[in-house]
Amino acid sequence: MTHISILKDKHIVLGVTGSIACYKSIDLASKLTQAGALVDVILTDGAEKFVTPLTFQAVTGRPVYTDMWKTDGADSLPTHIAHVGLGEDADLLAIIPATANTLAKLAYGLADNLLSVTALASRAPIVIAPAMDAGMYQHPTVQGNIARLLERGGLLIPPEEGRFASGLVGVGRLPETPTLIGHIRRIIGRDGELASQKVVISAGGTREAIDPVRFISNRSSGKQGHALAQAAVDAGAREVVLVTTSDLPVPVGVHPIYVESAQDMLHAILHHSADADLLIMAAAVADFKPQNRAEQKIKKENTDKNLTLELGRTADILVEVKAQREQSGYPRMVVGFAAESENVLSNARAKLIRKGLDLLVANDITADDAGFSVDTNRVVILDTDGNMDELALSSKVIISERIIARAAMMLGGE
Ligand code: CTP
Repeated sequence: MTHISILKDKHIVLGVTGSIACYKSIDLASKLTQAGALVDVILTDGAEKFVTPLTFQAVTGRPVYTDMWKTDGADSLPTHIAHVGLGEDADLLAIIPATANTLAKLAYGLADNLLSVTALASRAPIVIAPAMDAGMYQHPTVQGNIARLLERGGLLIPPEEGRFASGLVGVGRLPETPTLIGHIRRIIGRDGELASQKVVISAGGTREAIDPVRFISNRSSGKQGHALAQAAVDAGAREVVLVTTSDLPVPVGVHPIYVESAQDMLHAILHHSADADLLIMAAAVADFKPQNRAEQKIKKENTDKNLTLELGRTADILVEVKAQREQSGYPRMVVGFAAESENVLSNARAKLIRKGLDLLVANDITADDAGFSVDTNRVVILDTDGNMDELALSSKVIISERIIARAAMMLGGE
């Protein structure tokens, strides 16, 4: 795992309580640290039965706290007033996993160990990830305690359904690290520069059916669009809709709409951008589709030696969006991409005008290290005033963050 901008230098207090799932917290603490966060771990007595402070110390490179009364030694608390020191400057108090016992303590304000005292003293947002076996999660008492915590502004990472350590199956499993990190980045980013904005993003190459088994498509992987969706969540967008043809993972906090053809994508984009603040069309939409889709599989014995396909034009989604926007004012802002193999800038400029865009991200698809399928890209961002922002070769993640920051600045400045 590499650095994650939204987590860099963030101070996360990770409370680990006594569930078998606390083995997953070791990986979580490690990945958060690798992402650039400062992770201070508090273990309860129950957690120490499963995992040791040394393990967490090794992966975070920081002292691990277990004892409310300890005031000397390397792992003593950061100030002489124990419960103030840890939570004081935290960006987040994450209790992962949270047992039924700790949830009850938090719900009723008990303060009998370092974690529960820190939870009372800290003014940082608190997120809980309940994990418990044998249907305990559904018990009305547990549900009541969780509801109490949520009413007071606590945040929940819902447990998943699956097999428990006991062999029973039900709801109560702690999600895996990528999901946990997805929730954490959404919470940390929630007051970001896109807070209160609805963002719609398209991703991947469309597939135009020839018959029930064959289609025409292109080399787009969807990586840039999915990275943009994550960057929009990190920037605090209130709603992120990702209209995608790709089976890449969908970031936590993103609502995916799966489509196949340019026509499906057109309907989904027009529908979801009708009240959106920002639309980013990162998809490689087919310009042509088979004129007649065969109802049954085309059999080779029924055709001549060669098969000739007649292709017709698809709708230009951005041109349709432009018409919708002229009528309703929505989406408030539109960003397009331009995949060019020659005369990149002049073609891109013409596209910016023709498609009624506010920003256009142009890339040269002939470069090996940029464009389709690879993890990196090299783009130029053009605006309607003739400004050009040339970004050096970077990961699609970094490029997405730059695009989102630029769009957010423009939306904010309207
Ligand atoms: N696009 C679209 N509808 C299409 C084709 C493309 O909305 N039918 C969008 C893409 O998502 C992208 C932008 O238009 O944001 C430019 O796509 P690109 O493939 O570079 O351009 P085309 O419009 O297809 O023009 P050309 O093939 O002539 O380069």
